Amino acid sequence: MKWIGLSLMIAFQTLYAMEVSPKRQMELKGLIENVCSACHGKDLSGGQCPSLTPKALANKPDNMLIQTILQGRNNTAMSAWKDLITETEAKWIIQILRNPKK
Ligand code: HEC
Repeated sequence: MKWIGLSLMIAFQTLYAMEVSPKRQMELKGLIENVCSACHGKDLSGGQCPSLTPKALANKPDNMLIQTILQGRNNTAMSAWKDLITETEAKWIIQILRNPKK
């Protein structure tokens, strides 16, 4: 009955990929390009604010970055996005910041 395990695995992987719908992925990409980039730089290479390039994020833990997006940082320009971005979506954002598709 190996195939049951296998089909379950495929079903779960599909579900996971669908957690952020393709439409929502487009919206989030737009948000990054139009809003986040206003502070983090046009190519996210920073400026006044920390760079969000794969290199800059390499040694920073996912959890810290995700919490920064959701909760913001007190007394800085980085505001909390939790009313607009869910935790799953914040995870997705970090994942695409780490692996931008050309
Ligand atoms: C108004 C300016 C501004 C906007 C807009 C903004 N940020 Fe930030 N962000 C900051 C600042 C300033 C910091 C650094 C805060 C500090 O000094 O710790 C920061 C920090 C971060 C960090 C942590 C970086 C690190 O190296 O620790 C992440 C991740 C991040 N922002 C993601 C985003 C995302 C994603 C968006 C868009 C949804 C966004 N930011 C929009 C100003 C902004």
